[in-house]
Amino acid sequence: MVVRVQHDDSLGQQPSAALTWKGGTMATHNRDLALRGGRPRGLAVLITGCSSGIGRATAVYLAQRGFTVFATVRRQKDAESLGALGEPNLVPVHPLDLTVLDHIPAVVEVVRQKLDEREQAGLYAIINNAGGGSFGPLELMDLDDFRTQLEARLLGPVALLQAFLPMLRQGGGRVL
Ligand SMILES: NC(=O)c1ccc[n+]([C@@H]2O[C@H](COP(=O)([O-])OP(=O)(O)OC[C@H]3O[C@@H](n4cnc5c(N)ncnc54)[C@H](OP(=O)(O)O)[C@@H]3O)[C@@H](O)[C@H]2O)c1
Repeated sequence: MVVRVQHDDSLGQQPSAALTWKGGTMATHNRDLALRGGRPRGLAVLITGCSSGIGRATAVYLAQRGFTVFATVRRQKDAESLGALGEPNLVPVHPLDLTVLDHIPAVVEVVRQKLDEREQAGLYAIINNAGGGSFGPLELMDLDDFRTQLEARLLGPVALLQAFLPMLRQGGGRVL
């Protein structure tokens, strides 16, 4: 999946944030913005793999624009690094290793509690960003490594989606 973050002022006079990906856009609609005083307050998203790169940049970008962002990471030090940014809308959540399905219930519970505290209803989006992996000739492919990639990129995200479906439905959410 390719997630590209852009600033899109075409949606109205107020600043708005949009995520675009192959053939689509997740944007704060004018109606959403109007309901929330011109800012996407009340909209919450969960992004996986926020220790670095696109995930981290997207988490910071959306949090600074008023989204509540649940930024999942595998390691405590990465959660602390996100917390040290001092961005009140950015909520680091750990551990979430998508190859360890047992991590998911605690993540769901943290998100549920934080949404309750913030009086927010459901999730506006889950952004399946976590990943990585190695590429190369088929002959040299390590099948154990490939299995881990499948778990992290396919099985884990499906399990995560299953667990968050009620919150996604509640928030009229979408999956990237
Ligand atoms: N950068 C590009 O040009 C590009 C192009 C096409 C697609 N993508 C995709 O975009 C996504 C982000 O890319 P990036 O360049 O920002 O990569 P990155 O900096 O390497 O970040 C990958 C993130 O995924 C996390 N992650 C890896 N395995 C995980 C697992 N099993 N469970 C949970 N989290 C895991 C990493 O956590 P740790 O720090 O704990 O390892 C890290 O936070 C990836 O899915 C990548 O395939 C990137």
